[in-house]
Amino acid sequence: MNGREHAAPEILPPCPPPRPEQRELLHVDCASHVYPDGTPGIHGMCFRVYEGEIVALCGPNGAGKSTLIEHLNGLLQPSSGRVTVLGKDARPGGEQELWRLVGVVFQRADDQLFAPTVLDDVMFGPVNLGLDPEQAAAAAREALAAVGAGNLEGKMPAYLSGGEKRLVAIAGILAMNPQIVAFDEPTSDLDPVHSAAVEQIIRDLRDRRGISVVLATHDLDLAARLADRVCLVKNGSITAEGDPGAIFYDAPLLHDAGLREPSFVRFYRDLCGAWGIDPGDRPLTLEEVARSCRCAPAEEPEGRKKLE
Ligand SMILES: Nc1ncnc2c1ncn2[C@@H]1O[C@H](COP(=O)(O)OP(=O)(O)O)[C@@H](O)[C@H]1O
Ligand SMILES: [Mg+2]
Repeated sequence: MNGREHAAPEILPPCPPPRPEQRELLHVDCASHVYPDGTPGIHGMCFRVYEGEIVALCGPNGAGKSTLIEHLNGLLQPSSGRVTVLGKDARPGGEQELWRLVGVVFQRADDQLFAPTVLDDVMFGPVNLGLDPEQAAAAAREALAAVGAGNLEGKMPAYLSGGEKRLVAIAGILAMNPQIVAFDEPTSDLDPVHSAAVEQIIRDLRDRRGISVVLATHDLDLAARLADRVCLVKNGSITAEGDPGAIFYDAPLLHDAGLREPSFVRFYRDLCGAWGIDPGDRPLTLEEVARSCRCAPAEEPEGRKKLE
């Protein structure tokens, strides 16, 4: 005996099987990451991204969302476990390079912007991908236009507002033509107009470009409006996964993960309680709640005057 204490090996639950009806792009396969100071960032993390979906990672502060996101583009490597892309190992220098496939929009846009002008900044990615300066500028201008920030191309990134910085950071990612875009708390520090703009961009990525989106957030209202699939993150792993209606109407599950239901879920559940009816249809947005309450007309009534 060498006198050291040996902890019993931990048996991690196996990764849940993939959804057969969807095409898997990326798989974080039982990955753990321990930071240099010994803090576990993620632990036995199993997470998949499928084609054309918005998947939300919901968890409180410190749950491991950002650590997971940094594994998606190879910024961090797992201490154990692995990340695969289209079934192939995504180790640095391997066949599949994560940074080409996955773009990450970080929580602090300042971390991402560094060039003298917005155009230079957004061109940086395409130039790194090997495009010549003219092609890179065209890709950058197209990406800036896609996020409604074409007017900012000559500005210095340092002088942009927080909302403008976020849009430019998103353009910088889109200019690289990724298949997956991961957003880390994309609207947490934005005003309502920029929040709505970012929300619409996320929707458009899926609906118009077929890009898969990973959305890390503790704002469950945002996740309820956007997500096709929800993963609850707690203590560095995913504790539950499912359709938004199933997850967001399960109050004990959310409370266990350190979260509370989205505001419209609370409102609708309380309303149904007061009316003595079953909230079985599980609306998740203001419009859906209104429809469920039969407050919203299904169609525009005839003869209603349209305001210009
Ligand atoms: N660079 C770091 N060094 C040490 N510990 C870190 C570092 N970054 C994050 N952590 C720790 O890893 C855990 C998960 O953090 P994080 O991934 O940032 O969670 P979330 O994004 O869900 O708030 C936390 O305990 C946090 O303190
Ligand atoms: Mg975070």
